[in-house]
Amino acid sequence: MSTSYKTILSSLGVFWSEKAVPRVKSVFVARALYFMAGFVSLLLAFFVARWWIHTQPFATPPVEVHPLTVPLPAGVPDPADNIRTPEKIALGHKLFFDARLSRSGTISCNSCHTLSGVGVDHRTVSVGEQGRAGPRNAPTVFNTGYLAMLFWDGRAVSLEAQAASPLTTPHEMDMTPDEIVLRLLRSGYLPYFAAAFPEDDEPVSFTNTTKALAAFQRTLVTPNAPFDQYMRGNYKALNERQLAGLHLFQDAKCASCHHGPMLGGDTFMEFAHGVSTDKGRGELPGQEDEQFVFRVAPLRNVTLTYPYFHDGSAATIEQAVSTMINQQVGRPFNEHEAGLIIEFLRTLEGEFPKIDHPELPDNVPDYADLFGVEEPY
Ligand code: HEC
Ligand code: HEC
Repeated sequence: MSTSYKTILSSLGVFWSEKAVPRVKSVFVARALYFMAGFVSLLLAFFVARWWIHTQPFATPPVEVHPLTVPLPAGVPDPADNIRTPEKIALGHKLFFDARLSRSGTISCNSCHTLSGVGVDHRTVSVGEQGRAGPRNAPTVFNTGYLAMLFWDGRAVSLEAQAASPLTTPHEMDMTPDEIVLRLLRSGYLPYFAAAFPEDDEPVSFTNTTKALAAFQRTLVTPNAPFDQYMRGNYKALNERQLAGLHLFQDAKCASCHHGPMLGGDTFMEFAHGVSTDKGRGELPGQEDEQFVFRVAPLRNVTLTYPYFHDGSAATIEQAVSTMINQQVGRPFNEHEAGLIIEFLRTLEGEFPKIDHPELPDNVPDYADLFGVEEPY
């Protein structure tokens, strides 16, 4: 018996001494010690098994993802007529930050799409030249290279086409294409355009301005969100609440509209929520039959880009999701379920690149001599 005591006591890690043993005499104590040893071993086995299961990859995803939804592709493809070069990207980077592209010289693309943040201004609607407010909220420029339709109404089909709009819109930068060219020459941009567009005789042009801006914006991607990791097979990238949220997001048909690598951005749907008089695509010439039709908003980084909707009418993601549930889904949800969907939406937050403020060229002092025209401003 005394050997068993030794074994039990040492296995329990009790300090072993020859003197202590004889004191443990009764059979009752021995049984109690056996029982405890068994219990501790079981407990240990349970934790080891739990740890082991946790380290094993799942063979199949715990929640199947909508067939059209895939991870964000590794890079944005270039259109054939605007292949990216380091010089073009560097030029686009400068132009994006240069307020001299606006009439008053105070508004740059970065004023409304702040790249040290998440590419938005966090205003209900944007405010541009002369404090003029536009009718719509500024969407983020991050990941817009993946979108084939730009703006809330999807009216621009490329980033090149899109960039012409803010430069010339009165409530944004309020310039004309000719004024932009003169302003760029005045601002010392000639060598940068010459390096970016070496085959052009007159490299400083409005078209090349939009091309360089587009080339730069195609570098603004936020890869590797937890949901991307999940879709690539790392099923532990989403916790249980987020998985439940993903399930609801798909079960409640959010994914019937919000799908694809951007979880939106590739279809149009009606969205009239009573607050806005903006008719979306119905405002476009010849599209009068598309009243209150908008592009299904892409949802990458959506939890960060408040406020929401084309009119910025939802201040928080909670309000936005609640409106979507009431307006678009037609299935009642409780607050707990809406919270789970938001937990899932957080897994769409990717890794943002660090974008420095670029060094901008100096104004050309002897403008009239150089270009044979009087300085226009
Ligand atoms: C005064 C604020 C303001 C300025 C300045 C501005 N934008 Fe915007 N941007 C907006 C708003 C508002 C929208 C949405 C307009 C709409 O849908 O009709 C938008 C939309 C966009 C989009 C489309 C995003 C999407 O998801 O479809 C891109 C890309 C973009 N802007 C890039 C630029 C570039 C490049 C510049 C500089 C040349 C610029 N913006 C200047 C406010 C601004
Ligand atoms: C019938 C199609 C449809 C369904 C279903 C749908 N949405 Fe939307 N969603 C849209 C459209 C269209 C917009 C853009 C609204 C606008 O132009 O203001 C949008 C916008 C959003 C926005 C705001 C994005 C932003 O940047 O402002 C969020 C968040 C959102 N949806 C989440 C959801 C969730 C969560 C569900 C499911 C409960 C859902 N949606 C179901 C079509 C849909």
